[in-house]
Amino acid sequence: MVIAIDGPAGAGKSSVARGVASALGFKYLDSGAMYRSVALAALEQRRTPAEVAPGLRIELAERVLLDGRDVSGAIRAPAVSEAASRAAADPTVREAMVAEQRRLLSQGDWVAEGRDIGTVVAPGAELKLFLSASAAERARRRAAELGVSQATVLAEQAIRDARDRGRAHSPLRPAPGAVVLDTTELALETVVERIVAMAEKLRR
Ligand code: CDP
Repeated sequence: MVIAIDGPAGAGKSSVARGVASALGFKYLDSGAMYRSVALAALEQRRTPAEVAPGLRIELAERVLLDGRDVSGAIRAPAVSEAASRAAADPTVREAMVAEQRRLLSQGDWVAEGRDIGTVVAPGAELKLFLSASAAERARRRAAELGVSQATVLAEQAIRDARDRGRAHSPLRPAPGAVVLDTTELALETVVERIVAMAEKLRR
């Protein structure tokens, strides 16, 4: 079974997806970490994301490994967030990442999160969620996580959101049949419980 969780930055996708995967004993796929890894490699090698993407070895487990090196911390830097959103608009980059994501999802039970899991990567997913939250609340959560000001996050987030929603290739939008959950006023545990309940209903 595949559970697809999409939504904008700060909607709670990562924490929710991890929680749901752990509750159900499913594997967890953080597709954003792949776009972040491509962006980091491109920045470091001073090449374009499209040039580096096809040859990279990205391993996703407890830690994110880029050609064997632990980049779990480095890929979360704000400069990499911005570069990842630009890299993710490139069709060559998306093609390479989507192929790898589909290969992973073809075996076993997964909770996969990103921007295009329900629309492009796994349109046949048994359960699709689209998590949203107000821009202010999303910025508040991300600022707390990174230890920076909410105003800075809000400005950067607005640019990234507009790019993710407006791009020609795989724009961020709810998949047909996705359950849209506004998490602005919901605790993390509540969101996890609701999704786990939906999944268990489907498994019965
Ligand atoms: O954690 P956050 O929501 O800020 O970002 P992320 O999920 O780590 O993704 C980083 C960037 O990669 C996003 O801004 C998107 O532009 C891109 N992305 C994408 O295009 N498609 C995905 N399936 C996942 C991420």
